[in-house]
Amino acid sequence: MNVLVTGANGLLGSEIKSLTDHFTNLKFFFKGSSDLNICNLKELDVFFNSNKIDSIINCAAYTAVDKAEEDILNAKKVNEEGVLNLVNISKKINAKLIHISTDYVFNGESFIPYKEIDGVSPIGVYGNTKREGELSVLNSDVDGLVIRTSWLYSSYGNNFVKTMLRLGENRDELSVIFDQVGSPTYARDLALACLNILDNSEENKISSNGKMYHFSNEGVASWYDFAKAIMFIGDVKCNVKPIETKDYPTPAKRPHFSVLNKTKIKNDFGIEIPYWRDSLTDCISKLKNK
Ligand SMILES: NC(=O)c1ccc[n+]([C@@H]2O[C@H](COP(=O)([O-])OP(=O)(O)OC[C@H]3O[C@@H](n4cnc5c(N)ncnc54)[C@H](OP(=O)(O)O)[C@@H]3O)[C@@H](O)[C@H]2O)c1
Repeated sequence: MNVLVTGANGLLGSEIKSLTDHFTNLKFFFKGSSDLNICNLKELDVFFNSNKIDSIINCAAYTAVDKAEEDILNAKKVNEEGVLNLVNISKKINAKLIHISTDYVFNGESFIPYKEIDGVSPIGVYGNTKREGELSVLNSDVDGLVIRTSWLYSSYGNNFVKTMLRLGENRDELSVIFDQVGSPTYARDLALACLNILDNSEENKISSNGKMYHFSNEGVASWYDFAKAIMFIGDVKCNVKPIETKDYPTPAKRPHFSVLNKTKIKNDFGIEIPYWRDSLTDCISKLKNK
């Protein structure tokens, strides 16, 4: 199976790259934003006319949540137009499509982990554009999945874990918000889930039980809990002080609660999901051995 990975130099794309040796049935085409812009129809045409692709994992996205509040057109371009382009191409060439979305499609007013069937109501530009991208997949008859995830981190690229470790080494104290609750997700675990779904699909449809799925690591944390765990596991002597969201103002509003219910993906695809602290331990030990 020939698999195109778009946005290949981001957190998730990099984790997929690191796993290729475990998936010898899959032949990968990794394309970063400068090799293949998902908004550029001409580039897409040239690529798909010269390569036979059976599956696409779309890791390309406009992910700057705060910047998106001002940069609306660019966020829409990538997260809406770009996704629609990939949906149309997947239909045309009969390819499977795995598209990644976000917990930020929810407004966070619940206190029960969100299921795939729960109503969405994004509270920022990023979440709105990601919702439109989801709809392109859901409203088409492509053999595609939307996998919503949350709070991604990785040993690659810039992310919360690496930022906390770096700041913690240089400061005695850091303030981190305690009133936003979700589930941290090791991008490597999500990458494995995507690849296992494709690897096991063979000739079968991946969307036979529905197109919408949730995936994050097991368990629940606030950003404060997450930061405390990073310092503890990383053996960094930095005091973490809990603060309220109102004391750390950002341009974009974020949901106060965005825990995802993962029962569907576990049942339909037999995926086992690690507890967030166990995956965090794996990621930090990988970082320490780099
Ligand atoms: N990070 C999180 O906490 C989080 C949480 C929930 C959901 N998600 C979703 O998970 C998915 C993967 O996120 P990630 O954390 O891996 O994001 P990331 O590290 O920001 O990577 C996204 C990649 O997309 C590329 N890209 C941007 N515009 C593009 C375009 N027009 N054509 C092709 N590539 C383009 C970027 O390249 P450049 O850097 O060169 O622009 C970047 O390498 C995204 O769909 C995101 O919305 C992320």
